[in-house]
Amino acid sequence: MIVTTADLYKIAYGKFAIGAYNINNIEQTMGLFRGCIDSEGPFIIQLSKGARKYTDKRMLEATIRTAEEIFPEAIFAVHLDHGDEETCYDCIDSGFYSSVMIDASHESLEENIAITKRVVDRAHAKGLSVEAELGMLGGVEEDIQVDEKHACLTDPKEAVEFVRRTGCDALAAAIGTSHGAYKFKGQQSLHFHVIEDIQKAIPGTPIVMHGSSSVPIAEVEGINAAGGKLDPSARGVNEEEYLPAARLGVTKVNIDTDGRLVWTRVHREYFRDHPEQFDFRPPGKIFMDEYAKFIAHKNKKLGSAGQLAVVRDALK
Ligand code: G3H
Ligand code: 13P
Ligand code: ZN
Repeated sequence: MIVTTADLYKIAYGKFAIGAYNINNIEQTMGLFRGCIDSEGPFIIQLSKGARKYTDKRMLEATIRTAEEIFPEAIFAVHLDHGDEETCYDCIDSGFYSSVMIDASHESLEENIAITKRVVDRAHAKGLSVEAELGMLGGVEEDIQVDEKHACLTDPKEAVEFVRRTGCDALAAAIGTSHGAYKFKGQQSLHFHVIEDIQKAIPGTPIVMHGSSSVPIAEVEGINAAGGKLDPSARGVNEEEYLPAARLGVTKVNIDTDGRLVWTRVHREYFRDHPEQFDFRPPGKIFMDEYAKFIAHKNKKLGSAGQLAVVRDALK
């Protein structure tokens, strides 16, 4: 059942985080739904601009609708990840999405506020909620690359003004993470003091953590042992920090890279071990199983596992 993102936020805020998982194809979709059913977790499916262009946005919509029929117990929202203004309007007008993200964080504060406000007005008129970004994460987002020296943490005082003037429903805040596999050099923690200050500044507004993949060393090593050449110093967010962050208002946790690592490791290992094979279905099957296990594991770490009944009751 597709629900509003706002409903999921209301139930989860301050208690647990909802995993927001990017999908691009059928195999990911099957693994995602199965993993969320197995772990009894509500979730958010997110589609990036790149994902909408990869095959055809209608292909993804139909895939999600079909998964909804195959897994009638699933409770989830559908979200546009890192939208520009034009893509936000396309999603708002489609009638399919629960929420959109407008990402104008690379603009000046005034321009970011103006663009976000326009999107909020259009989205609210149709009952969708809006996530907006303030501050700048490092790493690569779609076609925009932000180097570390230009990345900046969200200023809690600016967050108050931003939320008040835009009316956005959730705030994607820069709290020490970055997109992709190369987040940190060595072990690094989330900036909990910044999260705390943001929560105090905008109590009740869900905080969204982008760049939340944990980049497990075992996945990186598995990929490299099967012919990959990832930098073995790649590090991500410590999964044990998801729940403490959730208790401070981090309600949506975006995970994409970790799923790509699972895909790459499974396919590289399969074709390394079966060099005579060219049928993509056997590794595809392995991937769906492994992806379902991966999602169930993430939901446990986020605290969303086991919450499906609570969500179902709250929505009655
Ligand atoms: O933050 C970006 C997400 O990981 C989506 O990546 O734009 O390559 O689909 P993508
Ligand atoms: P990762 O690259 O850490 O998976 O982050 C994904 C993300 O933030 C999508 O919006
Ligand atoms: Zn992101």
